[in-house]
Amino acid sequence: MNILFVGDVVGSQGREMITEYVPKLKEKYRPQITIINGENAAGGKGITEKIYRGFLEAGAQAVTLGNHTWDNREIFEFIDEAKYLVRPANFPAENPGKGIVYLKFNTEEIAVISLQGRTFMPSIDCPFKKADELIQEAKKRTSIIFVDFHAEATSEKQAMGWYLDGRVSAVVGTHTHVQTADNRILPQGTAYLTDVGMTGPYDGILGVERDAVLKRFLTNLPVRFEVPKEGRKQLSAVLIEIDKASGKAKKINRILINDDHPFFS
Ligand SMILES: [Fe+2]
Repeated sequence: MNILFVGDVVGSQGREMITEYVPKLKEKYRPQITIINGENAAGGKGITEKIYRGFLEAGAQAVTLGNHTWDNREIFEFIDEAKYLVRPANFPAENPGKGIVYLKFNTEEIAVISLQGRTFMPSIDCPFKKADELIQEAKKRTSIIFVDFHAEATSEKQAMGWYLDGRVSAVVGTHTHVQTADNRILPQGTAYLTDVGMTGPYDGILGVERDAVLKRFLTNLPVRFEVPKEGRKQLSAVLIEIDKASGKAKKINRILINDDHPFFS
């Protein structure tokens, strides 16, 4: 079976890329499951119910989140009813929402887990121990387990990959917005990629309007970061092939679509 996972969708340009390319990618690669990270989808920070539903309509079966989960306050109005919305599982236990969802395809199930790193990020519960707990739970239902590890530090992401090798089907990183080239199958059968990359403005800085970011670097003065609404766009994703019976990964391929890496159907 194939899983298509699209990395951090940023603002309206990111959403436009989802509408345009997810149907094409689904036609080309025929994934049984499509997952989108939507934590930057509403103007760069958080997600709204309309955007979440739009992603499902575009062909996703689940939407993962990250450190911006709570930044659009609308989230509190719909997260508990959003069956396929997955926020980091290692947020404080009393927070609304959930960190694991189960998706059905044919007669099988897949568990989708979201975790957030702690290095150079807010201090939350240990993602490694939370992973142990959730994997133990998920294994009672399925051997196909997908982990979106939303983290800043490459070292923490690699550590998670190795820690979960052989216990989950895939560990893919999100949050740093630039696709890394280290896709591999770890020795015990877990597909790994440090960062899937960002879906949104191609000529900004990590998806943010670049003049403001430059001003911040040059002057150290406070500036307001805006997400570009016009200009060139990109989509970053990963395609993972998994053996249904064992839950082990067979292949992991990166997908990058922009003017320098055009899409061929
Ligand atoms: Fe993030």
